[in-house]
Amino acid sequence: MMDHVDAIMQVMEAAFDPAYGEAWNRRQVSDALAMPHTRYLLANAKGANPALPEDAVGFTMSRQAADEEELLLIAVAPNARGRGVGAALMRRFIACAGERGVNRLFLEMRDGNPAYALYEHHGFLPVGRRRDYYRSGSEGPFDAVTFSRAID
Ligand SMILES: CC(C)(COP(=O)(O)OP(=O)(O)OC[C@H]1O[C@@H](n2cnc3c(N)ncnc32)[C@H](O)[C@@H]1OP(=O)(O)O)[C@@H](O)C(=O)NCCC(=O)NCCS
Repeated sequence: MMDHVDAIMQVMEAAFDPAYGEAWNRRQVSDALAMPHTRYLLANAKGANPALPEDAVGFTMSRQAADEEELLLIAVAPNARGRGVGAALMRRFIACAGERGVNRLFLEMRDGNPAYALYEHHGFLPVGRRRDYYRSGSEGPFDAVTFSRAID
C-alpha cells in the first residue's frame, strides 16, 4: 500500500516541469518531514483529506518557525487542475497555520510561475526578490519572488 511520502512523490513527479528544477526528490521530502515543525496536507479530487493516500491529487508542504510559516511546496496533478483543488489546499493550509498560532505566512515562487494567481487570490503580496535563485532546471536561471500575507 502507498504511504504518504509515496502519495506526495506521485503528485510531485506529475506536477513539476523538469525545465524549472522546482521539484524535490524523495530523499528531500522524507528528510524534511523528519524535522520538527515541517508538515504536509494531502488533497483528493474534491480538495478534502483523502481516505487513502492513493486518492491524493494534491499536497502542500510547509515549515513553521515560531509564529511564522513558510509554504515550501503546493502542487496538484495536471489532470486534476483548474477545479479548485489548489484553492482548497491553500484555504486548509491557512486555516491550519492560524489554529497553530501562526500570524505571518511566506512562500517563494519562481518568477513567471502561473501559480502567482493562486497566491494573490489568497491574499499574498510580493515582498522581495532573489536574483537567479532557481538554477537547477534546464532553463533559466530564474529569480525567486517572495510572497507574504498576515493571518488575523
Ligand atoms: C499552482 C497549482 C497548485 C494550482 O492548482 P489548481 O488545482 O489548478 O488550482 P485551482 O483550480 O484552485 O486554481 C487556482 C487559481 O490559479 C490559476 N492557475 C493555477 N494554475 C494555473 C496555470 N498553470 N496557468 C494559469 N492559471 C493557473 C487558476 O486559474 C485559478 O485562478 P482563479 O482563482 O483566479 O480562478 C497547480 O497549477 C500546480 O500544481 N502547478 C505546478 C506546481 C507548482 O508550480 N507549484 C507552485 C510552486 S511550489
